[in-house]
Amino acid sequence: MRRRWRAAVAVTVAALLTLTSCSGGQGAGQSPQASGRKKVEVFSWWTGPGEADGLKAMKGIFEKNNPGLEFFDAAVAGGSGDKARALLTTKLQAGTPPDTFQGHAGAELQGYIKAGQLEPVTFLYDELKLRDVLPKQLVDQISVQGEIYSVPVNIHRSNVMWFNPALLKQAGVTEVPRTIDEFVAALEKVKQTGKVPLAIGSEWTMVHLLENVLLGSLGTDAYNKLWTAGSDWSGPAMTKALNDFKTILSYAGDPADDWQPAAKQVADGQAAFTIMGDWAYGYFHNPPNGGLGKKSKTDFDWAPSPGTGGTFMWLSDSFTLPKGAPNRDGAIAWLKVAASKEGQDAFNPKKGSIPARKDADTSLYTDYLADALKDWSTNRLAGSVQHGVNVNDPWRVAINEAVGVFHTDRNVTALQASLAEAAKNSGQ
Ligand code: GAL
Repeated sequence: MRRRWRAAVAVTVAALLTLTSCSGGQGAGQSPQASGRKKVEVFSWWTGPGEADGLKAMKGIFEKNNPGLEFFDAAVAGGSGDKARALLTTKLQAGTPPDTFQGHAGAELQGYIKAGQLEPVTFLYDELKLRDVLPKQLVDQISVQGEIYSVPVNIHRSNVMWFNPALLKQAGVTEVPRTIDEFVAALEKVKQTGKVPLAIGSEWTMVHLLENVLLGSLGTDAYNKLWTAGSDWSGPAMTKALNDFKTILSYAGDPADDWQPAAKQVADGQAAFTIMGDWAYGYFHNPPNGGLGKKSKTDFDWAPSPGTGGTFMWLSDSFTLPKGAPNRDGAIAWLKVAASKEGQDAFNPKKGSIPARKDADTSLYTDYLADALKDWSTNRLAGSVQHGVNVNDPWRVAINEAVGVFHTDRNVTALQASLAEAAKNSGQ
């Protein structure tokens, strides 16, 4: 299985290097120049069902506000952006950046800043008075020495357990599991029905699961300490957390190709649970031709992932101004839309996220999104690992490697040693 993933990534990166983008904002066969408008290349990984809807909504506002500019969609397929980032690294190193790219607020963005690949956008914060409308702790995550380096467009939540209520009922699970022990008991009951207890996707979804199990098993304080200097990766609490991970993973079905097919198993009643970020909400809820058009609370339901109630494990998608952007003015026009209330309120309800801005139109955020807005302002906070808040990219890659090996050998001692080594070498 591990080899299959490796091969898939290798093939995809090779294929990507011969392409510049996988889809186009340009109409069939028409070049941006032919349209008379100047293209703005926007790089992300939001091509898949659910993901693309939010980007499309923001593109609509961008083109309405900027008739002389054409949105060029340089998105590279693959959840969580692992494939996109591989290509982006090549492009940045070759000095051929897109006009703007999506980067996670936190340690991931700090990596681009340290490598000198980004221009500060502090001037936009002054001009648009963004410091007044964005949470200070978020702006801190994208700042270095008084300069600010990106525009956050949203807040996503990592620690969500999505489930199929009918399947739980059928399995005799009468209470939504709140602790890891209750979760394991529920998984076991589902197993007895012959259905898949836990749906998982490609390799990164296992790291996503790991961050959720670490938070649930260790608790918020200990989890948050893991990403600070001298953290304890070798002690018994970590051994217990990794054994919890092993137990939970033993209930997983065959890995699906990405997070969407795993989530679909839950929506279609083939699997009971999946632990996934709230981009899954956009996918479940958006109308067909983008989403699954499912009915919340009936076809799918949600709760904080086991053991994490009261904590919001966050991440934030933000857009950048790479040094040497071919269409710098166009990129700035995009950043202005991404920063605006109008842009964020168009993007987020479709994306399954809540706005980074504090002055959004809350009436647009209903159902799951109303829960997320409330929890974001009242819960304790923890940062995501897989989605760039707590660890820089080399550390994230090392964690992915360790989890990939674990998926084959299920050796907790070896996993713990590899994770401890990755933390030691992180240089963070
Ligand atoms: C995250 C990203 C989200 C969503 C998710 C799944 O890394 O921040 O916006 O796209 O990956 O692809």
